[in-house]
Amino acid sequence: MSAKEKYTPEKKAEELLQVIFKYVVQIANERNVDKLLISLADMGRDLVSADRCTVWLIDKKNSTLWTKVAHGVDRIVIPLTAGIAGYVARTGESIFINDAYADSRFDQQVDKETGYHTRNLLALPIDDSNGDIMGVYQAINKMTGDGEFTRIDEEHLLLAASYTSKQLEAFALQEEIKQTQREIIMTLAETGEMRSKETGNHVKRVARYSEIIGRQYGLSDHDIDILRNASPMHDIGKIAIPDSILLKKGILTDKEREEMKKHTTLGYEMLKHSERELIKAAAVVAYQHHEKWDGSGYPEGIKGDSIHIFGRITAMADVFDALVCRRVYKDAWPISKVLDFFREEQGKHFDPDLIDVFFKVKDELYNVSVSLTDPVS
Ligand code: C2E
Ligand code: SIN
Ligand code: SIN
Ligand code: FE
Ligand code: FE
Repeated sequence: MSAKEKYTPEKKAEELLQVIFKYVVQIANERNVDKLLISLADMGRDLVSADRCTVWLIDKKNSTLWTKVAHGVDRIVIPLTAGIAGYVARTGESIFINDAYADSRFDQQVDKETGYHTRNLLALPIDDSNGDIMGVYQAINKMTGDGEFTRIDEEHLLLAASYTSKQLEAFALQEEIKQTQREIIMTLAETGEMRSKETGNHVKRVARYSEIIGRQYGLSDHDIDILRNASPMHDIGKIAIPDSILLKKGILTDKEREEMKKHTTLGYEMLKHSERELIKAAAVVAYQHHEKWDGSGYPEGIKGDSIHIFGRITAMADVFDALVCRRVYKDAWPISKVLDFFREEQGKHFDPDLIDVFFKVKDELYNVSVSLTDPVS
């Protein structure tokens, strides 16, 4: 049978619009970069009626191109020197080939290895907003009309490429903002901890405990991520507490204790103005981590579900750490005593459901406290 017989008619204008609408909605809601790449490639494939389409991204640090072609399949990585995609990435030239085997730029090796037959291909650079090449859009084997790519296909793929670069840049910016926030938060939290000298790893441990408890409780991946990054900020208000109180070797007087309690509202005041989800969560955690389930905590004395789940989880993580580790004012408790304490405080200091969760993961929590131990000074 001649190859031509299986080609279908070219897409009409309204069909192209449908393709665009379908993918724009899908892509705008995509938060995972691998899935984003697959959707962008699928959009290009449907726009030009190609059999296959790939969006390659340049990894400058490693001089490679990488892509993700299907769900559940690992990323594919090739050297920046390889094949048509590499050529386009290095030179920024578009490649338009309608007879692949007659063109010296096409390396038949890939086909030999995969058993695929490349008849024709289109490949274009994806430029970022500075005009630098960030990747390559590659379509293989035209499936409609007379089976050859046209200049109109090239224009459509160019449109897809410019849309792709905007989506990827917006995505990268979001990632960068998130990463920056995480770094700022960790730095702030560690700075706060440095003043209390002995507990350099306290913030890291509290982050891990919160994550473990949150996961077992059934929080979404997104909320676990927010909680893990926000919980280390719970004591940030301590940076405004005088050393004479913070570092006191013995028991606090009532007056000192009242002063110390202000670290919750002080932390909240520092963080409450942000519009960012992560900082907002950190503000809630700073404010509420000393509230108790039965309403006997501070600063508000609120009870039960009125305490945000992040506040309830961080409270457990914080007290667990305060008890299993040494503090300037107290020795470490043996783990059996710590477990008795948590059992005893079910429904008093702590959310009863969270105590059930706590006992399911107690070994994991204890292992974190041992592996992230503080250096003896
Ligand atoms: P922290 O050391 O991180 O302790 C956090 C929470 O763990 C405490 O909140 C308390 O709920 C619990 N916790 C810690 N040690 C013990 C303990 O020996 N027994 C019991 N039952 N619970 C304990 P709290 O009490 O609101 O204290 C907040 C912060 O105030 C503490 O954070 C610590 O920085 C400071 N602090 C509290 N008591 C003293 C003290 O006697 N001396 C000094 N120097 N600081 C204290
Ligand atoms: C090439 O880029 O030379 C081959 C096209 C492909 O299958 O990636
Ligand atoms: C903490 O921030 O909870 C630790 C306080 C301390 O260093 O004693
Ligand atoms: Fe605190
Ligand atoms: Fe703490």
